[in-house]
Amino acid sequence: MRAAYASAFDADNPLAALAVGDRPEPTHPQDDWVTVRVRASSLNHHDLWSLRGVGLTADQLPMILGCDAVGTDPDGNEMVLYPVVPTPGDPRGVSILSEHYQGTFAELVAVPRTNLLPLPDGLSATDAACLPTAWLTAWRMLTTKGRVADGESVLVQGAGGGVATAAVALAVALGKRVYATSRDAAKRERIAELGATALEPGARLPERVDVVIETVGAATFDHSLKSAAPMARIVVSGATAGHEPTVNLRRVFAMQLEILGTSMGTPDELAELLAFCAEHGVRPVVDRVVPFSRIDEAFARLHSGDVFGKVVVDHTA
Ligand SMILES: NC(=O)c1ccc[n+]([C@@H]2O[C@H](COP(=O)([O-])OP(=O)(O)OC[C@H]3O[C@@H](n4cnc5c(N)ncnc54)[C@H](OP(=O)(O)O)[C@@H]3O)[C@@H](O)[C@H]2O)c1
Repeated sequence: MRAAYASAFDADNPLAALAVGDRPEPTHPQDDWVTVRVRASSLNHHDLWSLRGVGLTADQLPMILGCDAVGTDPDGNEMVLYPVVPTPGDPRGVSILSEHYQGTFAELVAVPRTNLLPLPDGLSATDAACLPTAWLTAWRMLTTKGRVADGESVLVQGAGGGVATAAVALAVALGKRVYATSRDAAKRERIAELGATALEPGARLPERVDVVIETVGAATFDHSLKSAAPMARIVVSGATAGHEPTVNLRRVFAMQLEILGTSMGTPDELAELLAFCAEHGVRPVVDRVVPFSRIDEAFARLHSGDVFGKVVVDHTA
């Protein structure tokens, strides 16, 4: 079957490590696994980290990339894939598709049957394929971890990314006051259209916020600390611009801040998110939809850093 996979690692030029070609059809490590025919998938920064050799070892290559997908199960039902899979031997006890088990950038992918959730009415396959990683992460950051309450405000750093655009769209739909930073004037304009007050990185906010959504890391973390209200929650799920920021601990204890790490979400949180989007008419911010035959262009687009929202792959094209 056709697939896009990591054939090698390249820390400097991850696109050089991407291969597109034939791979064997999936096998089932356990009896309760099923094979799904993929209809749509979406890219995450995780796919670029994998090509750089972060989170994978050479003995795991070749590895089909891709965490997110919507596809058809063996009974012909349209399903959304929950990408976190029990993984004995992994220190986390779980892994994300494309780490230990082959990923979704293929004609077929295998997952435990319990990882399949019905595609809600009204959500297209290409929209729903954006939700299982970036949007699920943003949902958990705002709700379970950030505990964003009525009347509270949210700051989202690095407004163009998949998690960041999700956090803005969801926080606006939840009725919060939302601020978002971006280095790029065009992205600030677009994030404002989603309902956020757009700011340059490091700018003083009109108020201190209760929840900060951090995926940028070293480049923005000090601003996140300075922008946080007393008792605020700074929720971290990524560090695209460096994972070793300087942290002013005086501010952490004096303002009684909580710095919370998080990864992905639970199947119940994905079900909640799907229902929330279907019910409230919230749709993912899609940078572009690319046919599978041009998946290398989708990777180049994500790598360029110019994206606004999710890069989606249509496997039927
Ligand atoms: N833990 C999890 O479960 C999970 C799930 C999803 C993603 N992640 C992680 O979260 C991070 C975000 O991923 P993503 O795919 O949403 O987006 P992304 O492509 O990594 O981009 C995030 C944003 O970071 C900002 N940025 C990048 N370099 C920067 C720099 N040097 N200085 C300031 N800002 C910079 C950019 O904002 P502007 O251009 O707008 O300034 C960009 O839009 C990644 O590290 C990813 O691995 C983790």
